[in-house]
Amino acid sequence: MSQLNIEVNGRKVSREVLARTHLGDFLRDDLRLTGTNLSCEHGVCGACTVLVDGKPVRSCITFAAACEGRQITTIEGYDTDPIMLKLRDAFNTNHALQCGFCTPGMLATSRDIVLRLPDADEERVRIELSGNICRCTGYQGITASVLSVLKHFRDEPNEQVDAMRRAAAEGKAALPPETDAPKTFSGFEAKSIQREAKAVTNGADAAPAGSGAASGAATSAPGKGTSVKSGFNVDFPAVKVWEFMSDLKAVAACLPGAVIESQEGNEVKGRIAIKFGPMNAAFKGAATLERDEADMSAVLRGAGQDSLSQSRAKGDVGYRVTSVADDRARVDVDLLYSLQGPLAQFSRSGLVQDFVKRMIADFGRNVSLRLSQPEGSDAPLPQAEFSPFKMFMGVLWARIKRLFGGGKEE
Ligand code: FES
Ligand code: FES
Repeated sequence: MSQLNIEVNGRKVSREVLARTHLGDFLRDDLRLTGTNLSCEHGVCGACTVLVDGKPVRSCITFAAACEGRQITTIEGYDTDPIMLKLRDAFNTNHALQCGFCTPGMLATSRDIVLRLPDADEERVRIELSGNICRCTGYQGITASVLSVLKHFRDEPNEQVDAMRRAAAEGKAALPPETDAPKTFSGFEAKSIQREAKAVTNGADAAPAGSGAASGAATSAPGKGTSVKSGFNVDFPAVKVWEFMSDLKAVAACLPGAVIESQEGNEVKGRIAIKFGPMNAAFKGAATLERDEADMSAVLRGAGQDSLSQSRAKGDVGYRVTSVADDRARVDVDLLYSLQGPLAQFSRSGLVQDFVKRMIADFGRNVSLRLSQPEGSDAPLPQAEFSPFKMFMGVLWARIKRLFGGGKEE
């Protein structure tokens, strides 16, 4: 950890940061300035562009610690900036916004063009914008907006803008004029904390018997990956559930999309296919099960690679069986995973974490069903006909219900 002292949108900020924390993550996660969007996280798309000492910088590939003593401007910090005020109007008028995801980075880059190149023509504006990717608008509206603001300041020179242009030409910071009240986006924070607290309570007390309903919270485990805690109840004695959960082949048969190809003692090789919205992956890999008989808990440590996207996944699935009543057990699942490669961009999204929780719930239902079958039966489980589309829609629907305050955590 190192001490970081910077100025963000005119406000002095002092925090401890890890050396590896990127500026974009620091702005979003620590300062809740979520107007800065992260997309490719490779410095390619420009969505994360912010100003550092008045110059556009990719915050996804800039270490926060490297910004010591610098002045950062995010999309939340332009309210008194004469160029940005004109650009915002122009983006609206010229229909330069569609989904709006690229917009914070587009505006930062557009402001820089207006500052540095007062006489830029369309070709030059397009070249300058080529480092920012917009997937929706075809750039026509964005280019027209920048050209209209350039024209505006040619037709009606502005003293503040001229002063900023002189500063930029001399290589000095052309910062937005100081504002008294920098804004942070904190509107949803209180609500989401409340919801998490409610979810944990529901999980402990209110999961319906034998339903396998999963509950729990997803958090980011600093430096280790993403952690999803969940669990389900099963209407069978804990010892019987534990015995079943120790049989790797039986467990894999309950997990949608998973196949064990070989097993030697506590080591298994296999694959798991995942299809969820834009994610389509088939991870192949190996895992080792570490068991603690006395505690009725186990950790399955595994790693694998997706042959399609070349993404790599690493994770620990920890589970613990506890007795709730003579004929009822609870299985708590603690999943810690990290992804590298193209699929990594999805790993932190709430939607994916909801999907994982839904998979755990389905897994719980399958365990209940399998335990209800007579000894030796291998009749197919209903979830064997797993529908990725149905699951995707189910997760989306649950999120929509929660968003409008009516739904419980599922
Ligand atoms: S998220 Fe930084 S350039 Fe794409
Ligand atoms: S407006 Fe959607 S990516 Fe640009």
